[in-house]
Amino acid sequence: MATGLITGADTGLGFELTKMGLLKGNRMIAIVLNASGEQITGLQSEYPDKLTVIAADITEEEAIKNAAAGISDKFEGIDFIVNNAGVLFGSKYDKIDEIVDLDVAKFRKTLDVNVTGMAIVLKYFMSYLYHSSYPVIINITSEAGYLGSGGYNYLSYSVSKYAANMYTQKIRNYLHDVRPELGVRIFMMHPGRMQTVMGAENAQISPSESAEGIYKVIEGEIDPKLDIPFINYKGETMPH
Ligand SMILES: NC(=O)c1ccc[n+]([C@@H]2O[C@H](COP(=O)([O-])OP(=O)(O)OC[C@H]3O[C@@H](n4cnc5c(N)ncnc54)[C@H](OP(=O)(O)O)[C@@H]3O)[C@@H](O)[C@H]2O)c1
Repeated sequence: MATGLITGADTGLGFELTKMGLLKGNRMIAIVLNASGEQITGLQSEYPDKLTVIAADITEEEAIKNAAAGISDKFEGIDFIVNNAGVLFGSKYDKIDEIVDLDVAKFRKTLDVNVTGMAIVLKYFMSYLYHSSYPVIINITSEAGYLGSGGYNYLSYSVSKYAANMYTQKIRNYLHDVRPELGVRIFMMHPGRMQTVMGAENAQISPSESAEGIYKVIEGEIDPKLDIPFINYKGETMPH
């Protein structure tokens, strides 16, 4: 039995990862914005002992600090952390001037959730991962984090996912170069174009198909050794 932490666990991919983790017999910690949502409360009553639900906004440092401190009597270690929570504002069908019509508040919010939130969660929960004998971090980013020519949609989101990839690469380099004895596996991952609230306009797969692939990586069935560990949910290398 492993222990996993998933952020943004009340809907979409995060919910599927939490549910699948419980079905596999793991203990799961779910960080959610809305702890009274129908799906997560249903799961909580199905798995009262194995599921710990924490209501916290990942961008609020104090809330995440308290969340991490609050589980210390129940958990010594965490084996896998999936930084899944994310936001996407706007649509590819928006008819705007991408430069002069930029919504600065939404640009900031996107960076705050998709990048800073991920860093805050690891800042406070990493010490739990250090107790694991098979630790793994999966930062859910996106194919949008690709620095390539062509494509101008989802501007704020793409900036944030590129930054999240860089954050992941930097901490991967740190762990690899300075703390190799810990054996932390770390990936930045495109989860596929999923049929979720966020992904509806481009969907190709279900979030459960993505979650199945992600668990193959978590469990080591798929374990690519890459200097730049940007992969998709099938474990295939992503362009960067
Ligand atoms: N769907 C796709 O096709 C696709 C493609 C590439 C990458 N991704 C990435 O995959 C991840 C999951 O996306 P999804 O499709 O499952 O999206 P989703 O259904 O919109 O779920 C996102 C989750 O993040 C939570 N969240 C947002 N802001 C938060 C905050 N500040 N603190 C805590 N939780 C927060 C949301 O909570 P509420 O619902 O309560 O607001 C929701 O549970 C995201 O990182 C996304 O960027 C998705």
